[in-house]
Amino acid sequence: MRSKAIICFIFSGLIFCLSLSNTLAADIDTAAIYAEKCALCHGEDGKGTPTGIDFEVKDFTDAEWQGTRTDDDFVNSITNGNPDNSNYLPFGDMLSEEEIKAMVPVVRAFAQ
Ligand code: HEC
Repeated sequence: MRSKAIICFIFSGLIFCLSLSNTLAADIDTAAIYAEKCALCHGEDGKGTPTGIDFEVKDFTDAEWQGTRTDDDFVNSITNGNPDNSNYLPFGDMLSEEEIKAMVPVVRAFAQ
C-alpha cells in the first residue's frame, strides 16, 4: 500500500509540473515575438519582406520546403543562425530556449 501511495505522490507531482510548464509556455507571447523580432525579415505573412528576400529567407508558406526541415532543425537554426549565411542572426542570446521552441509552431502554421 505504501509504495502505491509513493508512486501516486510522484505521479501527481509530475502531472503538476507538466501542467505548470504548459502554463509557462502559454505565457509566451509568440505573436509579439514574431512581430518584434522576426517579421522584419520573414514578413507578417511568412513569405519574406524585400529585406528578408535579399537575405535569402525561405518562404514559410512553402509546405514542401517545411517538410524537408524538422522541428529540431528550426530550433537549432533560430538559436545558432546559419554559419553559411551571415545574414541570419542567431537568436540564442535574445530569446530563451522555451521562447525559441514556442516559435516553431508559429513558423509551421504559415504552411497550414
Ligand atoms: C535579419 C533577418 C532575419 C530575422 C530578423 C529573422 N530571420 Fe529567420 N531567417 C533569415 C534568413 C536569411 C534565413 C535563411 C537562412 C538560411 O540560409 O538557411 C532564415 C531562416 C529561418 C528559418 C528556417 C531555418 C531552417 O532551419 O531552415 C526559421 C525557422 C526562421 N528563420 C525563424 C525565424 C524566427 C522565429 C525569427 C524571429 C525570432 C527569425 N527567423 C528572424 C533571416 C532572419
